This record gives sequence, C-alpha cells and structure tokens, in this order.
Amino acid sequence: MNEVQNEGGIDRRGFLASAFLISFAPACIDLSAEQAPQALPAPLTFDEQAVAWAKDLRSILSHDPSPTNPETWNSLWETVSAGYSNDVVNLNPGSHGSPSLIVASSLRENAERHWHDSQGFYSAAEREFIDQIIPTAARLLGLGENHSTVYLTKNTTAGTEAVLTGFPFNADDEVIIASTEHPTASAYVKMREENSGVIRKPLDLPVGENVTAADIVKRYTDLVTPKTRFVLLSHISYVESHTLPVQQICQAIKAINPDIHIHVDGAHALGMMPIDIPSLGCDSYAASGHKWLGGPESSGVLWVSNHAKEMNFHPLIKDGNDPYTAATGAPNLVTALAFGEALKLHAALTPQRVWSRITELRAQVIEALKDNSKLKLISSGDPQLQSGMITYELVSTYDHQITPNDATVLAQKCAKVGLRIKNVTDFGNAYIRIGTPVSVSSKSLASGLELLRTLL
Ligand SMILES: Cc1ncc(COP(=O)(O)O)c(C=O)c1O
Repeated sequence: MNEVQNEGGIDRRGFLASAFLISFAPACIDLSAEQAPQALPAPLTFDEQAVAWAKDLRSILSHDPSPTNPETWNSLWETVSAGYSNDVVNLNPGSHGSPSLIVASSLRENAERHWHDSQGFYSAAEREFIDQIIPTAARLLGLGENHSTVYLTKNTTAGTEAVLTGFPFNADDEVIIASTEHPTASAYVKMREENSGVIRKPLDLPVGENVTAADIVKRYTDLVTPKTRFVLLSHISYVESHTLPVQQICQAIKAINPDIHIHVDGAHALGMMPIDIPSLGCDSYAASGHKWLGGPESSGVLWVSNHAKEMNFHPLIKDGNDPYTAATGAPNLVTALAFGEALKLHAALTPQRVWSRITELRAQVIEALKDNSKLKLISSGDPQLQSGMITYELVSTYDHQITPNDATVLAQKCAKVGLRIKNVTDFGNAYIRIGTPVSVSSKSLASGLELLRTLL
C-alpha cells in the first residue's frame, strides 16, 4: 500500500484541504522558545500553507465579518488574498480565475495520489466528498436541496452545448441571442441553424454608462414573435460586462409566451455574486468553476428545470447526475475534488460577502480610471446592471486612430509585467475588460491600475 492511503479508506493527505471547514490539524510550526536561533523552522510546504491559511480563515469567519465592521472586514479580505499567488495581478478572472491554496493543494495531492494508485475511483471518503459537490453547487445556485437536475460539466460551454444540442427544435423556430454573446454559445446556435433549420435573431446590447435595465429588456422583447422557441442570454455579458436584468427579461418574455425556453449563460456569475435561479425564472443555467469561483480548469455546472429535462434528448440531461453515467464516461476525479473545494470555500465566505467585496474593488477601479482620457466606459453605471467586470473602450487621440489591435497589444504589454487584463476584440472593438476578484488585495489592485495607467 502506498503512503497516501490507509486501511480505513480515508486518505488524510488527499483530504487535507477538504477538511477545511470540518476539522483540520493545526499547522505544524513549532515556535517554542527552546529552539536554537539558528534552527529556523523549515519553510512551510505548499500543503502546510494551505492548512495554515484555512485555519486563519476559519478564525476570521468565526467573528462573522461584515462591511459594517471595517476591522474584521478588511482583515478577512487581506487574509483571503494572501491565499492566492502574488506572481501576477489577475484582473481577468472572467477568462481564468486564480485558484486558492486550498484548490491548488487539492489538485496537487490528488494528482499525486492518482500517480500512486491509478485505479483510485472511488474510496468511500472520496465518494462521500463527491456526493457533496452537487448539493453544495445547488445551494450556491439558490436551489436549496433541489439538486436532481444539477449536473457537473467541464465548463459553461459544455452545459450550453447539452441544452442546445438536445433541444427539440423544428425548422424555422427562432432563437434570440445577442450578437456579442460569447463565441462558444453562438457556436451551438449556429450548429442548430445548420442541422435543424432554426433561425437566429440577433440583438445588439446597448453600451455606455447610461444603459438601463428597461433598455435591455426591450431589446429582447422586441424580437419575440410567435415563432420564438429559445432565448440564450448571459447573466453577465461577455463584451459589455453588464449584469443583465435576467429576472425582468424572463418575466417579460414568459408573459408573451411561457413556453419559450430561456437559457442563461452564467459563466461569470458563479463565484462573483449571489445566484438565485428560482427567482430568475429561467429554464436552464450553465456556469463555470474555473473563472470567478477560482476552481480548477475544466469545471462547471449545469441546471435544467424538470420540464426542460423532460423535453431535452441530450444524454447528459437524460441520464441523471451521477458523476459517472453512460453519457459522461469516466469523470476527471482530480478536477471534481478540487471543484468541490472551491465551492466549499465560496460557501464559507458566502456569496453575499464575496459580492460586497467585489463591488468595493470595482469602485476602486472606477475611481482610479474615471478621469483617464484614454478610456471610455462601456459598462452600465446603473447599480442594478453592475458586475465585477468593467469594460472600457480605448479612445483615439488626434494623432492615433485606435484599432482592436491596440487593445490586444495593451493586454500583452500588461501580461509581460505580470498584470492580467482581458482584451475584448472578437467583435471588432478596441475594448479592454477589468475584473476585480477577491484574490487581489486592494493594494495589489492599486498597483495593477497604476501599471495600467502607465501602459495606456
Ligand atoms: C459569457 C461567457 N460565456 C461562456 C464562456 C465560455 O466559458 P467556458 O470556457 O467555461 O466554457 C465565456 C468565457 O469567457 C464567457 O465569457
């Protein structure tokens, strides 16, 4: 037997991080006075750092920190950001979020254990932990204990793919989708155009500081006709970074025709803001684990309503949500376990607290860049439509006509100095997008923004 497994099927090292909120051993640092001055304690291993960080977090969370108590509140977020790599300032969690020490430790431990025992699917403890992933995700999606139609996926795209490819379209059915929807969502609408004869009805989302919820709702409802069968929209839009008024859009569309299926691409919402699917009123919702949640690459969830499950013929949706079904084949257990850790961490911090922090950091960005003549705000200033991301357009000057390539070059220059921002140029715009995840401290955000200003 290898050293990372024991008789009882409990793998202590593999579950080091998962023990975070239940129980874990104190960090093994001996600070006793007897130590000879030259016998400095060995630096903490990566996994010991994860345990120590989890301990610090537990201690702060036990004081129930809130924005009304600045001392505990600031100490919570300083501690949180200390659990992420500071090799880069990642202001692009909308592409890839930074994993916390707990997630990275889980990945490392379980990958190593897999090396020792490649058949390791499932020990009793793993199975127990895996069985908690979907219920935890369901609670974070506002579904309470109702998790029979929540599925583990590899990303948002996979969830959207399952819903769109399994939807029983007829020729000439209309699909409403924003023209700036993420290319991975559009790809499956395009496929159904080609193989089923559905008709895509594109809409342009309004841009700029003064955009209101009513403007956006109207863009969607204006396109509804008796032939509309499906609407695909993002909870937080990829290009404009608006939080769409999903609840109002769903209500308005369902008031016209309750049978229209509304699918929400929640790629950016999970890990950024509280999500309450029942109150949104949609029929399916796909989200990513590897963006704002800071989960491992290739992790995500899909929820579909019971009615949508009945109608849909995609095997993933039909076969139930065991991590291993005929539709899924063998899951990536290492990823699933680390995804579970990311969900648990988010649940412990609470989506409400995370969102409050993200909006504080967002305000810091807006303030720092507000008078910058080289940037124009594309995201709405309406608090209801704000998200953890802000999109800016690069503005031409009298001697330089800006092109999308300028945004790409700027993002590359930033990357070279350890600052991650997103260039959003897919639709011919010279846009950059800045996200404010809890993995960055206020101080590193300030230095990142200073760097950005000098590179603009
Ligand atoms: C709005 C939106 N939807 C979907 C995706 C694709 O996400 P994933 O890679 O998790 O499938 C992205 C990626 O950036 C996105 O911004």
